[in-house]
Amino acid sequence: MTTTPTAASAYWEPLWSEGRRYRQLDDTENRLLEDHLGPGRARPALDIGCGDGALARRLAQLGYRTTGIDCSPTAIALAAAQDPGPGIVPVWQCMDFTTDDLGTLPEPAYAAITCRLVYRWIDDKAVFLDRVRRLLAPGGTFWVVTEIAGRRPATDPLQNLGITPAQAELLTAGWSTVHTADLDVLRCYALRP
Ligand SMILES: C[S@@+](CC[C@H](N)C(=O)[O-])C[C@H]1O[C@@H](n2cnc3c(N)ncnc32)[C@H](O)[C@@H]1O
Repeated sequence: MTTTPTAASAYWEPLWSEGRRYRQLDDTENRLLEDHLGPGRARPALDIGCGDGALARRLAQLGYRTTGIDCSPTAIALAAAQDPGPGIVPVWQCMDFTTDDLGTLPEPAYAAITCRLVYRWIDDKAVFLDRVRRLLAPGGTFWVVTEIAGRRPATDPLQNLGITPAQAELLTAGWSTVHTADLDVLRCYALRP
């Protein structure tokens, strides 16, 4: 659990508590997720930067034993408040994935690790990816959804939401398979060790 604010929580917590919300999952994205991850069959899944929990809840519906983590206490509270009741619901944990002890997570390894609209915001992406690899089970899948630079008109004030070609290169280097699917300004990556 995060006990002291980190740089990430200092940035994100005010946004969540002021009411900022992010792009919703839609049917197309849900279908891509299911096609690339397959049924959970009670295997463990970890959603990094889960926000208010939509993707983690989707993983739980697919049958994954899911943990959603976020550095913002408000986001985690919003996620927990939307638990549908009895049935497979995610475990929610407030932590900074880049700095906190990964040993506090419920599982030592995950068949699926997901990270949606988060990679862009990670300062030290190499360290982040190293921590993901340490937690990914053999044969597992790392699912990343991120905006790609250059997909919006040059005048669009949200242009800076996209990752650069160098950041995409770092993300995709060193995996045995890399599958991608495009969704307007977003790219989805299914990365396997
Ligand atoms: C743009 S929001 C996306 C939220 C959610 N994944 C979605 O798709 O709606 C980015 C999320 O990542 C979380 N986040 C950013 N850096 C983090 C870190 N180092 N550890 C944990 N969560 C982080 C933020 O608190 C925020 O909820």
